[in-house]
Amino acid sequence: MSDQSCIIIAIAGASASGKSLFASTILKELKTEGVNDIGIISEDNYYKDQSHLALEERVKTNYDHPNAMDRDLLLAHLQTLKAGKAVDIPDYSYVEHTRTQKIHHFEPKKIIILEGILLLTDERIREIADMSVFVDTPLDICFIRRLKRDMEERGRSMESVINQYHATVRPMFLQFIEPSKRYADIIVPRGGKNRIAINMLKAQILHLLGKTPHHSN
Ligand code: C5P
Ligand code: MG
Repeated sequence: MSDQSCIIIAIAGASASGKSLFASTILKELKTEGVNDIGIISEDNYYKDQSHLALEERVKTNYDHPNAMDRDLLLAHLQTLKAGKAVDIPDYSYVEHTRTQKIHHFEPKKIIILEGILLLTDERIREIADMSVFVDTPLDICFIRRLKRDMEERGRSMESVINQYHATVRPMFLQFIEPSKRYADIIVPRGGKNRIAINMLKAQILHLLGKTPHHSN
């Protein structure tokens, strides 16, 4: 696979803004339309390994700061995929706050959708991405979703979600994530259920794959 043949689409936005849903809806619908050479990579899998720390220490990490991510590894993996080779993506546990023993073997794909809160804050990731999207959902909606999700799926108490939100999630959104919106090619209001935006992204991907007529340059 040549460099040009792998297309990376970065989807950023606040925590619980609907990035994952947006990405998985596009993937699912394109697969039903016969586009199978497509995969999703989540930035969350690239949180730094913290297995050397005790759990009481790991809970104190600021997970909304760029330093929490092993971005060198993410970048190396994207370069490897662009070069047409497979990568082993680490598995991450939000309950244990570190990597697990598992890995996800990921074969190179023609279309790679990358999703994560901090993607557009890194110049190198902006460079390697062919297209970028910012999911712009109001923060109150994000918070309600996050509270529910973190309690149901990530083993958190209401108190811990609220404390973390005040201490890091909201301040880091304002400091890093929100300002990165300016780098997006497309800003999507309301998140993963924005039907027009999903259709537009799908159409653009089909166009990039040469499956639709050329409209303009
Ligand atoms: O799926 P979502 O974009 O919400 O995932 C990113 C969020 O996961 C961050 O806002 C971060 O606070 C949270 N996180 C966490 N505990 C970890 C790792 C990430 O609460 N161990
Ligand atoms: Mg997510």
